[in-house]
Amino acid sequence: MCGVIGYVGLGANPDFFFNGLKRLEYRGYDSAGIAMLTSDGTISVERAEGKLANLQSKLARLPAKATVGIGHTRWATHGRPTENNAHPHRSGDIVLLHNGIIENYRPLKEALMAKGYTFTSETDTEVAAHLLNAEYSALPASLPAFEKMQKAIYKTVAQLKGAFAFGILCTKTPDVLYAVRLGSPMVIGEGEGEYYMASGITALVEHTRRVMFLEDHEVAFLRSSGLTLTDFQGAPVKRDFQKVEWSVSMMEKGGYRHFMLKEIHEQPQAIAQTLQGRLEREAGRVNIVDYGAAALPLKSIDRLQIIACGTSFYSGLLAKFFIEKFARIPVEVDLASEYRYRVSTVTKNTLAVAVSQSGETMDTLQAIKFARSSGAFTLGVLNVPGSSIAVACHAESLIHAGPEIGVASTKAFSAQVTNLMMLGLALAQERETMKPNEIGQVIEELVKIPAFVEQCLGLSDAIEKLANKYHSERSILFIGRGPQWAVALEGALKLKELSYIHAEAYAAGELKHGPIALIDEDLTVVCLAPRDEYYEKTISNIEEIKARGGKILAVGTEGDKDLMALADDFIGVPPTSSIVSPFATTVPLHLLAYWIAVRKGTDVDQPRNLAKSVTVE
Ligand code: AGP
Repeated sequence: MCGVIGYVGLGANPDFFFNGLKRLEYRGYDSAGIAMLTSDGTISVERAEGKLANLQSKLARLPAKATVGIGHTRWATHGRPTENNAHPHRSGDIVLLHNGIIENYRPLKEALMAKGYTFTSETDTEVAAHLLNAEYSALPASLPAFEKMQKAIYKTVAQLKGAFAFGILCTKTPDVLYAVRLGSPMVIGEGEGEYYMASGITALVEHTRRVMFLEDHEVAFLRSSGLTLTDFQGAPVKRDFQKVEWSVSMMEKGGYRHFMLKEIHEQPQAIAQTLQGRLEREAGRVNIVDYGAAALPLKSIDRLQIIACGTSFYSGLLAKFFIEKFARIPVEVDLASEYRYRVSTVTKNTLAVAVSQSGETMDTLQAIKFARSSGAFTLGVLNVPGSSIAVACHAESLIHAGPEIGVASTKAFSAQVTNLMMLGLALAQERETMKPNEIGQVIEELVKIPAFVEQCLGLSDAIEKLANKYHSERSILFIGRGPQWAVALEGALKLKELSYIHAEAYAAGELKHGPIALIDEDLTVVCLAPRDEYYEKTISNIEEIKARGGKILAVGTEGDKDLMALADDFIGVPPTSSIVSPFATTVPLHLLAYWIAVRKGTDVDQPRNLAKSVTVE
């Protein structure tokens, strides 16, 4: 999940690479480096440990302009986050950077050391650099340098196992940028007399909106005059450029203190954009085009498997309650990293849905490939166009939430739930498990969600005050029933990944089966208890906590005096239907995690040890 940027053209300065990396820093931020190659074949490499800002002071040592260059911001897999382990890595005339993991790097490293190569880092990436140099150097000196590089790249990638997106320079070909892709994202941008390479489109939109996504087993040879695309055996590949709709302003904070706060406030718009074009309100129908209906009639689907990680997993868990209610089919929600260890029971009538904001999560990618190879019909519910998971699925349904830069996912969660609810309605429609008027009633609730979420965002100031009271807690429990259990899980994840406070979520009814032993006067429990069908039983659970001295931070329906009397602190959300309710209670939990993290002074947009897209298993 590193950030990679590359350039070839009439000339780029160090700031081009630095600013490009800033737009990708959410992908990994424990060290960084830039390499620039001038037309006379001189390569300059500068690297720094820690945040990208530490590299800034070294930019002056780089050439003012270069025709080719690459940059990298790292999330460490092999080797500590040090300058020595920072990319790019050099071997002879070759400089290489890498996003991914080379699984067989040890035997390759031993063989290279036996050939006399010396290593200065602990990384698997340096192995790739030396291996490429070894293959390049083994070719006849009489061959043109570009031809040697082509052959050497094909020879090298044939020996590697794992996932890699490489950016490569060679002093003997100072007009060529090499991009290689297997398993980790690599997008190519086309400008006027220049080409770009990046691990995400966020780094390209300020230069071009014409992009092309490399697919697995492809190599791009980029020059200012044009590009050649082949597979790993050298056979030409044809791929068109496409126009992306993301803009520079979407990449900026827009006056918010953090990307995460901006994205929390973008939830109404993200939900509305996800709904757009998919609802026929008068007819009480959902437009099913997006859900792969052309390839697999939704009517034939008799089972759903939702496969995801982290927040995306919780969006699936939440949607399960509604899809089963609407479509009357079983919905399993699986952690992607565990999915492949089960014996597959999918059939051709199983719809396997990969939910992923980035579309690059390796666990989810491998799991959906397993589902597809087992015979399931596969659909990607994704936020980034042209992602690896989109390529791996039969069909793709975008959530149109716009770029989500904060590592902690917020607007994508709400947009994913929105999209999955519509999938449930589409299935109900085609399986005729709901009447048009019933579907129409749910649709009328869905279109209300943006306004209710907007209303809940008004709680931010009150929640900021609560954060001052709860920011020093050592541990916090979250409980909820039904869909609110999934919201509780999401709230606990947000709190722990942002504030580093231990947090766990339980189905409220589960508390008495063990976790209640944790309750004492030092423990705070966030209790989700809006006025819904689960309310009475949840109140009983809250009274059980109260009886044992636990502190209650309740999230309920505004004006609920009974709940307020039980709670130490109370956050009231507007009265809503069961469709809207989980969206309403999610907002205060996102805001609570945000404000506690701000109060604790953690790095809200780039929490420690994390990255926005986990492209390793
Ligand atoms: C969520 O806040 C976390 N950043 C993380 O759990 C994330 O949801 C997970 O890694 C899945 O990412 P994806 O949606 O891009 O696949």
